Amino acid sequence: MELDNIKYFPPELCEEMTKFSREPMIRAVMLPKATNALGFIFGGVILSEFDLAASEEAMAVAGRRVVTKLIKEVDFVAPVQVGDWVSYYARTLSTGRTSVTVEVLVVAHRGVGRDRLYKVARGEAVFVAVDDEGYPAPLLNASKS
Ligand SMILES: CC(C)(COP(=O)(O)OP(=O)(O)OC[C@H]1O[C@@H](n2cnc3c(N)ncnc32)[C@H](O)[C@@H]1OP(=O)(O)O)[C@@H](O)C(=O)NCCC(=O)NCCS
Repeated sequence: MELDNIKYFPPELCEEMTKFSREPMIRAVMLPKATNALGFIFGGVILSEFDLAASEEAMAVAGRRVVTKLIKEVDFVAPVQVGDWVSYYARTLSTGRTSVTVEVLVVAHRGVGRDRLYKVARGEAVFVAVDDEGYPAPLLNASKS
């Protein structure tokens, strides 16, 4: 991200983003079809992308298929608006024998220049690695505990 051109970027968000890799796991532009009755983006849409981003991180760490066990402590910090470009940053917090706990930070890039950044949500999710029958199976690439 070119910081020189950014017009709004709260220092606490800047600091929080340093914990994640520079590239988001997922990015999507929000269209009117995703709005709720208030005209903002429906939380379920954000949650769906949140789950996808987190599962990609968990699958990379697990080295095998994973399923979502738990989505917890999702804090919708600020509304997402139509036209926002939304980034989902994901990182592994911990691993167990079969589970991976992932943190996701959701950031909206607003404006034509995508030069105003807002923290819109943050949360954690637990994934369980599974075998072909869907039973818990050991992680193959575990590195964090
Ligand atoms: C995920 C699933 C296979 C786990 O089965 P389970 O019998 O709960 O498995 P276990 O009790 O052996 O637990 C597996 C791991 O999950 C962890 N876990 C289970 N419940 C947990 C919870 N509430 N919070 C955090 N971790 C949890 C366990 O600690 C264990 O981790 P570890 O091996 O790293 O120590 C099973 O619950 C399932 O198939 N759920 C549906 C998944 C799904 O379809 N998700 C999509 C959304 S609909």
